[in-house]
Amino acid sequence: MELNRRSVIAGAAAAGIVAATPAGAAQAAPGSAGGRGRPVKELFGTLADGTKVHRWSLENGGTRLKVLSYGGIVQSLELPDRRGRYANVSLGFARLEDYVKSSPYFGATIGRYGNRIAKGRFTLDGKTYQLSVNDGENSLHGGAKGFDKHVWDIEPFTRGSDVGLRMRYTSVDGEMGYPGTLRSTVTYTLDRHGDWRIDYEATTDKATVVNLTNHTYWNLAGEGSGTVEDHELTIAASRYTPTDAGLIPTGELAKVAGTPFDFRHAKAIGRDLRAGHPQQVTAKGFDHNWVLDKGITTRPEHVATLRDPRSGRTLRIATDQPGLQFYSGNFLDGTLVGTGGHTYRQGDAVALETQHFPDSPNHPKFPSTVLRPWQTYRTTTIHSFDA
Ligand code: BGC
Repeated sequence: MELNRRSVIAGAAAAGIVAATPAGAAQAAPGSAGGRGRPVKELFGTLADGTKVHRWSLENGGTRLKVLSYGGIVQSLELPDRRGRYANVSLGFARLEDYVKSSPYFGATIGRYGNRIAKGRFTLDGKTYQLSVNDGENSLHGGAKGFDKHVWDIEPFTRGSDVGLRMRYTSVDGEMGYPGTLRSTVTYTLDRHGDWRIDYEATTDKATVVNLTNHTYWNLAGEGSGTVEDHELTIAASRYTPTDAGLIPTGELAKVAGTPFDFRHAKAIGRDLRAGHPQQVTAKGFDHNWVLDKGITTRPEHVATLRDPRSGRTLRIATDQPGLQFYSGNFLDGTLVGTGGHTYRQGDAVALETQHFPDSPNHPKFPSTVLRPWQTYRTTTIHSFDA
């Protein structure tokens, strides 16, 4: 696989194929196709309070990543297809204003808690905490001002053949209703094969709950190119967590066998998308947590593959986490215009968020998301690419 990818990149370089730069995007990080350069920083915009937001560009092993200090957002992720032609495969915006105004978490770092907590409430050590409620009666992705809406401190690094960004954000005690000062570090690394690795780390000074993830929306044919219903998806999970009308898990771990939720073998996303299963009607498609068969592991293990048959671009996800939220872009409704100037409509991308199960603080039978002062929260997800 690596050989295939490297030979494609080398072939493209030899053939003098010049990578297209998406409209409005600045020059990519220095270095030839597949080459490694130091991350490059540029001004991306200024927030209403005067805070400057920067964009970092990095490249390695043929993968090109652009990251904003606002929300640690992946603003662009460019990959070659099987003929070496690049496309930006992650949904986003060209301007900071659009991220601030109304982004459905495009490319964002999610915290303190990925997905929903019922009624924004949970009890820990006998004390009940009320969180910021921002999704009907529930709290979604950390509340009204989650980690996706803060400016992170970013430090670039190169280490051996790796290049990356170390991003830090400290969430004060009581922010969005969560107990404890949470010091978090999220590290993005691009290795020489072009794999994008995310390492999350957090500590707290009081018992709290934490569930960090990344909310990249993938369209392996290129953002703005239309539906991903033809992409093939595999998820190594025999069960998923059905939800109520508010998309809160009922607590049941239901079998995928014989249902549209069965992605144990590669299946086009569109194949069972309109199967009329009551769970799909509630969610307007797929928007569920898959219970990964491997469970929690000490090292990242392969759990999902997304493949665009036309371009050949393939994403493989490995994680140490127990769950994967597969969201089929159900709420993209044609009101947002993305990075390249095209409208995003329902099903134009998917999010595949590695995580602990939604609403775990209210489900004692789910794996625990409690973090105590003497512990360090550590989790890793690796995205590998091929064409
Ligand atoms: C959730 C969706 C939500 C989306 C936000 C996903 O992680 O599962 O329900 O609408 O994030 O855009």
